[in-house]
Amino acid sequence: VRVVPAEPAGSPRTDGLDLVHRPRRNRRTDWARRMVRENVLTANDLIWPLFLVDGDNLRVPVPSMPGVERISVDQAVREAERAARLDIPCLALFPYTDPKLRDETGSEALNPDNLVCRTVRAIKKEVPDIGVLCDVALDPYTSHGHDGLLQDGQILNDETVDVLIRQSLLQADAGCDIIAPSDMMDGRIGAIRDGLDEAGHQSIQIMAYAAKYASVFYGPFRDAVGSSTTLTGDKRTYQMDYCNTNEALREVELDLEEGADMVMVKPGLPYLDIVHRIKETFSHPTFVYQVSGEYAMIQAAAANGWLDGEKAMVESLMAFKRAGADGILTYFAPRVAEKLKQGRLF
Ligand code: PBG
Repeated sequence: VRVVPAEPAGSPRTDGLDLVHRPRRNRRTDWARRMVRENVLTANDLIWPLFLVDGDNLRVPVPSMPGVERISVDQAVREAERAARLDIPCLALFPYTDPKLRDETGSEALNPDNLVCRTVRAIKKEVPDIGVLCDVALDPYTSHGHDGLLQDGQILNDETVDVLIRQSLLQADAGCDIIAPSDMMDGRIGAIRDGLDEAGHQSIQIMAYAAKYASVFYGPFRDAVGSSTTLTGDKRTYQMDYCNTNEALREVELDLEEGADMVMVKPGLPYLDIVHRIKETFSHPTFVYQVSGEYAMIQAAAANGWLDGEKAMVESLMAFKRAGADGILTYFAPRVAEKLKQGRLF
């Protein structure tokens, strides 16, 4: 590179850096930027998590997740209609469980008329063409807030898996399309696959929360489902250590071997390296969960005027696409889908 002396200030440059490559050429105009754009975000990339609550015509704000509410079954059906209009392909359901219905073994998970099963039936009846994903884990139902059965301070693995199979079957019978085990017990994907197949549910998909880390970013979610006050201790004996990467690849490998159709990484933005490595290594459908704490951080900063919330939302979602994600579970789903309907985002 040849550098010529600078021109006197104010006069246009007649000569300059003798550059062959000027990457800025492709960024000079909006049309040129659009022409060379490498990734896109569409409504097809979105899975919308909904929090359910018992009642009628009810919407209860979740304080730590501004803009998110717990909603009753009838409202969930309305939201499913809205999601279908917005071309969002899939909803994910999470129940808030009254403390009175919680117990040591999470037995409400096995009630065929629990809130989740009733909501699946209602949505499938009114909006049959939208996908419904059900989380499989016991934490919305246990008095101790853990995802599995607790005995003498230990989370039992194999005994928990037995219950998770039964929980999955009830959700499948209710009409859900995707079973998404989020409990991180060993061997649950294979066991649930067998259980579903034996019951004639061969076509129900499994999205494994394969690389789910023990994360502080789930805090607001635990408020939303009512397990933050009940949770005793932490989940580090089953959720992954956030110091690790190779372990995530191993978890994904096992879940795929056991029959997972899709895998998921969770949380999202702080774990883009994991998303990228998993997609590069396995080339399977790979999803990512932009979790409650990530949502809350963006909303809080926006509410304070510290950053532009709309722009932060769009940029964060594009980051997942760039990392290689095939889809994103995000509380921003309806908002970003509305924007996509109105026009271009970038
Ligand atoms: C339950 C579950 C959790 C989330 C999804 N499923 C919480 C946890 O593991 O404690 C978190 C989602 C979020 O934070 O948005 N097994």
